[in-house]
Amino acid sequence: MAIIIDGKAVAAEEKGAIKAEVADMRRKGLVPKLTVIIVGEDTASQIYVRNKKKACEDVGIESDLIELPDSVTENELIGLISKLNSDSSVSGILVQLPLPGHISENAVISSILPEKDVDAFHPVNVGKIMIGDHGFLPCTPAGIMSLLYRYGIDVSGKNCVVAGRSNIVGKPMAMLLLHADGTVTVCHSKTAGLKEICRSADVFVTAIGHPKFFTKDYIKPGAVVIDVGMNRDASGKLCGDVDFENVKDVASYITPVPGGVGPMTIVTLLKNTVTACKDQNAYV
Ligand code: GUN
Repeated sequence: MAIIIDGKAVAAEEKGAIKAEVADMRRKGLVPKLTVIIVGEDTASQIYVRNKKKACEDVGIESDLIELPDSVTENELIGLISKLNSDSSVSGILVQLPLPGHISENAVISSILPEKDVDAFHPVNVGKIMIGDHGFLPCTPAGIMSLLYRYGIDVSGKNCVVAGRSNIVGKPMAMLLLHADGTVTVCHSKTAGLKEICRSADVFVTAIGHPKFFTKDYIKPGAVVIDVGMNRDASGKLCGDVDFENVKDVASYITPVPGGVGPMTIVTLLKNTVTACKDQNAYV
C-alpha cells in the first residue's frame, strides 16, 4: 500500500507560515490584495475561485471577486484589467480560465502586468520559468514540487513522465522537473505507446482530465503517482485521472483527489500574491 501524500495537511502548515508573514507585513502597513475575475457561470470555476478567496481570507490577504457575465467583451475585460494594473492597492490579478470562446485567453493574459500575474501565465513569466529565473512560480507545478520535497522525494536522475501538455500544468510541470534534474517525458493525446512510456516513470504526474483513466497497468511498481485531475466519475463523485483504488497498491506514494494537489495549488497562489506585494513595495 502506497503512502498517501496529504496535500491538505502540508497546505495547512504552509498557510500557517504565510499567515504569520502577512501579519508581519500588515504591522508594517503593507496589505497584500488579490483581485480575482471570473467570467460566466461555469460551476467548477465558481467553486475554484471561492476556494481561492476563502484561502486569502484565512491568511489575511485581502481579496476581491469580480464576477462578469458571459456577454462581456474582450475589450471590456482588458479595460478592467488595465484599471487594476494601475491600482496600487492591487498586488495580484487572476483571471479564472477557461474564458468564453469569443474572448482570446492569450490577449487577456498578456494584458495583465507581469508584476501582478500571480498565476505566472504571462509570456514574460512563462519565459522566466523556462530559463529558471522564477519570479512567480506556476501554481500547480510548484505546489507539486513542494509536496515532493516535503515527502523527501528527490527527482534528480529519475524518469519523470508528465501526462498532459497544457500551459497551466503540463508544460510548466515538465520545466520544474527538468530544473530539478529529472529526465522528463511529456505525453499527450497523440502519444504512441502511452502505456509503455507511463510504465517507465519513477515519478508520474497526470493532468489530462479523464476520470480514472490510469489503472495499475500504466504504473511501474514503486512509482510516485501525482494526480492533478479533478473530474466526476459515473456516479458524480469527485475523482482524479488515476484509478486510485486500483493503483494505490502498486505505487510507493500517491496523491488522493480531493486532498492531494488541489490545496497546494492555492498555497502557491498565496505565496505569489505575497511576493507580488513585497516586490511592488520594495519590501525586504
Ligand atoms: N483554471 C484552471 N486552473 C486554473 C489556474 O490555476 N488559474 C486560473 N486562472 N485558471 C485556472
